[in-house]
Amino acid sequence: MDPVRIGVVGCGAIGQAHLSVWKDIEGARIGAVCDAIMDRARETAAEYGCEAFSDVGEMVRSGVIDAVDICTPSGLHARQGLVAADAGLHVLCEKPLDVHADRARELVEACERRGLVLSCVLQRRTYRGPRLVTEACRTGRLGRLLSCSAYIKWWRDQSYYDSSRWRGTWELDGGVLANQALHALDHLIWMAGRVTRVEYAVAETQAHRMEAEDFLMAVVRFECGARGVIEATTCCNPPLCTRIEVFGTEGSAAFDDAAVVHFGYGGADHTDEVSEAEAKLGGRAEAMAISLQGHANIAADFVGAIREGRQPIVTGRDALASVEALRDIYAAAGVGVAA
Ligand SMILES: NC(=O)c1ccc[n+]([C@@H]2O[C@H](COP(=O)([O-])OP(=O)(O)OC[C@H]3O[C@@H](n4cnc5c(N)ncnc54)[C@H](O)[C@@H]3O)[C@@H](O)[C@H]2O)c1
Repeated sequence: MDPVRIGVVGCGAIGQAHLSVWKDIEGARIGAVCDAIMDRARETAAEYGCEAFSDVGEMVRSGVIDAVDICTPSGLHARQGLVAADAGLHVLCEKPLDVHADRARELVEACERRGLVLSCVLQRRTYRGPRLVTEACRTGRLGRLLSCSAYIKWWRDQSYYDSSRWRGTWELDGGVLANQALHALDHLIWMAGRVTRVEYAVAETQAHRMEAEDFLMAVVRFECGARGVIEATTCCNPPLCTRIEVFGTEGSAAFDDAAVVHFGYGGADHTDEVSEAEAKLGGRAEAMAISLQGHANIAADFVGAIREGRQPIVTGRDALASVEALRDIYAAAGVGVAA
């Protein structure tokens, strides 16, 4: 079988990390790279021995790739994905699927119509511990879920937001919820279903010069009926690990980052059955101090889905749910693109 030829769009921080992952993925080959800064694209292409482009449309029409991997600012994801989907190419997208829910939905529907694989880098969903706990939530082992909450107290200094013009803007990034807390929000939705109601939300810019929020608190209701609190900030220095807690009528679980630190149901402790060493996602103090194991899992799964004609672990619909939650939480707080 021919390798799937990947075109990476965006050769910045995470794009470079993806490229370092792609070179070792079985069944894949780096076919091209694209960056709005042509020198960056050329330099990267020279390193990986592939073609360079500065325009995603030109890259998808070039015939040298079968799929795109989108690593550009978040507010460009869906539009660039649509350019690829319209040309019949599969799409892998960095998180979030977009910051604009309408565009994200358009991308999901376009890929579904054309039978294309669409996946998103929500890498927590590939870890064994979170998978087992989520399965327990969804199959009722914890009973009726009552509460599902996340606390994301991270730190970014001002130079992080000043490092690129897109960071912290409503149009291209959003604030702490859309960027740093997105993995935790996705994790809650994965366990408890879509956010169906936002009961309270407040968002503020407390300690940075940026357009979007660096502090957010919300109370939400999930599809399964559970309520949850989300508290997210990039103002906490030194930062704390992401804490996620869930409980139902028959059991409870807690995560520090993506590691299960407590899992109990039926009157017994099951933590040892699901804990794993590698589940440290990182990123709480520095954007790129993260493990790339999850990215490698997602990349390998994306290629497997294309070759085997199956759904990926993280589907477009999975990824859309957190973007729609962003829209609704921001709207309830009176901030965001639509405010
Ligand atoms: N899954 C994760 O753990 C994780 C970690 C870090 C970042 N991310 C996501 O990755 C995305 C990129 O973040 P980053 O930190 O790498 O940003 P970055 O600013 O370092 O890189 C973005 C790159 O995109 C290029 N670009 C901008 N507009 C373009 C266009 N129209 N066409 C082609 N290239 C264009 C820029 O020149 C830059 O090289 C964000 O959506 C972010 O949320 C995800």
